[in-house]
Amino acid sequence: MSATLIDNIGTLVTNDPQLGEGLLGQITESAMVLDGPRVGWVGPRAQAPAADTRHDAQGACILPGFVDSHSHIVFAGDRSGEFAARMSGQPYRAGGIHTTVAATRAASDSRLQEVARWQRAQARMQGTTTLEIKSGYGLTVADEQRTLRVAGEFTEETTFLGAHLVPEEYRADPDGYVSLVTGDMLAACAPHARWIDVFCERGAFDAEAARRVLEAGRRWGLGTRIHGNQLDHGPGVQLAVAERAASVDHCTYLTEADVAALAEAARRGPQEQTVATLLPGVDFATRQPYPNARTLWDAGATVALASDCNPGSCFTSSLAFCIALAVREMHLSPQEAVWAATAGGARALRRSDVGHLAPGARADVVQLEAPNPVYLAYRPGVPLVHSVWESGTMVYQNTFPPTAPRFGSR
Ligand code: NIG
Ligand code: FE
Repeated sequence: MSATLIDNIGTLVTNDPQLGEGLLGQITESAMVLDGPRVGWVGPRAQAPAADTRHDAQGACILPGFVDSHSHIVFAGDRSGEFAARMSGQPYRAGGIHTTVAATRAASDSRLQEVARWQRAQARMQGTTTLEIKSGYGLTVADEQRTLRVAGEFTEETTFLGAHLVPEEYRADPDGYVSLVTGDMLAACAPHARWIDVFCERGAFDAEAARRVLEAGRRWGLGTRIHGNQLDHGPGVQLAVAERAASVDHCTYLTEADVAALAEAARRGPQEQTVATLLPGVDFATRQPYPNARTLWDAGATVALASDCNPGSCFTSSLAFCIALAVREMHLSPQEAVWAATAGGARALRRSDVGHLAPGARADVVQLEAPNPVYLAYRPGVPLVHSVWESGTMVYQNTFPPTAPRFGSR
């Protein structure tokens, strides 16, 4: 097993306050050792141990790879027209999902693989090293199962979302669809999934149906998560907290009681808590109000940021963009937003091996073309990812421009 020394780091974000300064556990003038697939050592440059190879970070910032805990990248078709119409004044309607369902059902397996591979690669180039992927555009037993098989080629974080919307052929019998989802569809999908999710919203599934879905998933050994409070003050947040779901995602419309419930849930500890996962790209691309992440954070809730990359409500895979929005529009500090897109995402997936860079963690590492993590919000829209390592192997390097200056004043 070979060891790589990443030397000459301007700011190393460990996300471990015991290893460095502040929330992000930052160590300046530092170095780290990737010991095969794991982090072997982090600390001041002057104390760096020997290694087999040396990578010069040229004074740049190194941080844990982004943990994007919410995406829907197995799909076919195009909904740019829907986005354009929305930007000209039409409201977002969950019904657009039917368009993607029809295109996904009609697509070949290889087309679905091609789209997912493309999206996974783009996410990686932007610093995402862990990516959750949901089904939910098949909505038949066979199409949900093949979606999850494709998702499983690109991630270990696969989520069964048969309860995304009642498909048109079940419009007259929504209860029958919930029975299918919790019966034959779940039986076919559970072996390919780690999680079960449900869109708990007016027009999708009510609290009672959502509870049935989560309970059925748990019987098959799946972890639970919810899409909630996206379009309205719905029951999703309270249900997620009561059911001890790992995460409730969107949280665009929150009452004081919802914020209090999420804060209370955060006190249950890493394996029992319900994370508030915010999806600022969705609020951006659907012209929704942004939730106030400041209020959530100050109340004590655990906050994650994720992309929700999907062809309908938000077609970005850039966690850097989400960080910039969370800072500008949701009132997180740059440090808090970076934490939420790394350590927060890991908590939303109940993972302790990713989202931080303490010794023993998975060596999922990003080098920025910037001296510190504030630049992710300070330089929005600029491609700042220079290099990406997954499990200790370099999987991406941006060699253009080849002459980036050394960071720092020397
Ligand atoms: O997370 N909220 C429901 N599902 C997706 C949107 C999917 C779509 O519009 O195709 C979301 O926003
Ligand atoms: Fe989603």
